Parts: sequence; structure tokens; C-alpha cells
Amino acid sequence: MSHTAGVFEDKSVLITGGTGSFGRRFVRTLLERHNPKRVIVYSRDELKQFEMQQEFQDERMRYFLGDVRDAERTQRAMRDVDIVIHAAALKQVPAAEYNPMECIKTNIIGAQNVINAALDNNVGRVIALSTDKAANPINLYGATKLASDKLFVSANNIAGHLRTRFSVVRYGNVVGSRGSVVPFFRKLLREGAQELPVTDERMTRFWITLQQGVDFVITNLSRMHGGEIFVPKIPSSRISDMAEAIAPGIPHKIVGIRPGEKLHEIMVPADDAHHTLEFDLHYVITPSIIFYTQPNYAVDGLGDKGVKLGEGFEYSSGTNPWILSVDEIRTMIANSHDEYSSLSRSQS
Ligand SMILES: NC(=O)c1ccc[n+]([C@@H]2O[C@H](COP(=O)([O-])OP(=O)(O)OC[C@H]3O[C@@H](n4cnc5c(N)ncnc54)[C@H](OP(=O)(O)O)[C@@H]3O)[C@@H](O)[C@H]2O)c1
Repeated sequence: MSHTAGVFEDKSVLITGGTGSFGRRFVRTLLERHNPKRVIVYSRDELKQFEMQQEFQDERMRYFLGDVRDAERTQRAMRDVDIVIHAAALKQVPAAEYNPMECIKTNIIGAQNVINAALDNNVGRVIALSTDKAANPINLYGATKLASDKLFVSANNIAGHLRTRFSVVRYGNVVGSRGSVVPFFRKLLREGAQELPVTDERMTRFWITLQQGVDFVITNLSRMHGGEIFVPKIPSSRISDMAEAIAPGIPHKIVGIRPGEKLHEIMVPADDAHHTLEFDLHYVITPSIIFYTQPNYAVDGLGDKGVKLGEGFEYSSGTNPWILSVDEIRTMIANSHDEYSSLSRSQS
């Protein structure tokens, strides 16, 4: 057990989007390794909650049907809650382009409802999940997550003398998550594909496993002062190397970049570098606005110290010095496969 174990001790924790990939892994980690008093899953679909109830037979679990768009219900769900993890989101890039207002309602209005409910219920700490697509966004999904990041960061100013503090965790693609490239390539191969579609041989992405994402969120609950965007140092790979790792020797068909896609993803934009701190294993983008009560972000809640980055620094998957070899990608996929098969094993 780590130095962060005490953060959940005897606490009530609510996770919006608790039935999703992140949510289920987070809840399992909490129940197995930490000692929460109560864990509340907040999401819309009753079937996913029913399935989760079969999977997690634990008297500390509670299930609330509700929509983050519904301010009143979100308020009610947060009564007597100490810690909130906000993972609920619409996250499919093309769906967001076709249904922009739906994405805005969930990812932006929903974020503000979560903030208001946390403030009104005197919640202690809130962490919202973000994505690399929110950095210099070019698609609506990324733009809504950037707006959400801004709402959570600035909420610390509204909080004033209240105890509620808000931070954001931003990371890249989760290996093996639903709709991502690994299951997509595997499906094509199962269907007998003789070549794999690759957008562009140069395209790169950041990668994180589900458990790494969960652990990073949990540690940052202890690190946070409020107002930080926490960015983990994680590896990148070329998508073409990902294809090679999954199906060695199979030809690639170059299909060209799709609408809303970038060649390389960014997690710390160059324009944010002057207010970003580097720690051993992560970066912290500090607020661009000055708060009424300004925390000392250079020393975090665990006592670790960060140093200011130079102007012009950019944390991009294209220039990331940590690039995975084909063999390393294979190992990463094998580890993430264990994560997903354990999720589905425990579901059945
Ligand atoms: N997966 C990735 O590669 C990745 C990468 C970076 C960041 N992220 C971020 O990580 C977070 C979690 O992602 P995930 O992969 O776990 O997503 P996911 O598997 O799609 O789960 C999303 C969850 O949100 C719930 N939800 C959706 N709309 C809702 C609403 N209006 N009100 C309440 N609940 C709602 C869903 O349940 P119902 O449908 O039943 O409501 C589900 O529990 C998201 O914020 C995402 O932006 C994901």
C-alpha cells in the first residue's frame, strides 16, 4: 500500500461515469487497496449498473441512476460525499462532430453541474478526467474537454473560503479501450484482413494503461492544492509500429488523416509551458489566472518539488523522447489485455 492509501480512509467517494472502463477499474482498485466508507457510482444506464452490481458484491457500493446534465439529481447524489472523480463524458470524436450540442451538454454543462453540486455539498476534493485532445483542440470533443478543464480550474476561485478543491488529470489514449486502435486492428485480423489501415506512417500517439491512469488519479488526490492540470510522463509510439506489433509483417494501407485527427497529440502546449512545472514523473500545468489565495504549486501535497519549464517547451507525442519499440508495444498490449480480460472475466 502506498503513501496515498489514507486519502480514502473512511471517506465517501462518488464517481460519475462509474460504469465506464476507467470507472470500473477505479472502483475495483479502491475496494481492494484502499479503505473507503462508501463508493457511489453515478451514471445513466441501468443495465450497466446492474451488471456492475453483479461484478462488485461489496456492501460499501451504492448505485445512483442519474445524468450529469441534471443539476438537481447531481446535487442529491453528492450529499455527504468527501471525494468526487468526474469521469462521465461523451468521448467519440465523430459522434461529437455530428451531435455537437449533445457533447456540449454532457461535457461542459455536466461539468458545471458537478462543480456546483460539489460546492453546495461541501465536498473536499474533486478530480476531473481530461484528454490530450483538449490541448490545442481541433475537434469538438477536445474543445468541450478544454472548456471543462477551464471550468474545474477556475472553480477553485469560486470555492473561496469553502474547503472544496478541484484539479484535472489529463492523459492520452488508454491502450485497449473501447473503440481504440488495438481492438480495431484485432477485429480486422479476426475477419481475415490481409493489410491494416494506417492513417499516416508518421502518426504518433501517447499511451497509458487503465491501471496507470487510475493510479495517477489516486496519487494526485494527495498531491493536489486545487487548480492543477496533472499530466503524466508516458510513452508514445508510431501507429505503424503498433500495427507491426499486433501483426508482424502484414502490409499497411495508408488511408490518410481523418477529420478531427492530428498527426501528433499534445499534452502540454508550448503556450502553456511558461506556467508549467516539471516533476520527476509528471508535469503540472498551473492556472494561467492568479487565484485570490495562491497555493505554492512548486511543492505538492506529498512534498515533491517541481521546477519551471523553459519557454517553448512542448510535450508532444511526436517529440516525446520516450518512444516505444515494437517489442515494448507488444509487452504494453499484453499487460493491458490482462486488464480488460480481468474486467470482462469479473463481469461474467
Ligand atoms: N478511453 C480513453 O482512451 C481516454 C483517454 C483520455 C481521457 N479519457 C477520459 O476518461 C474519462 C472516462 O473514460 P472511459 O474510457 O471510462 O469512458 P467510457 O468507458 O465511455 O465511460 C463513460 C461513462 O460515463 C457515463 N456517462 C456518459 N454520459 C453520462 C451522463 N450524461 N451522465 C452520467 N454519466 C454519463 C457512462 O455511463 P452511461 O452511459 O450509463 O451514463 C459511462 O459510465 C472520460 O472523461 C474521457 O474523456 C479517456
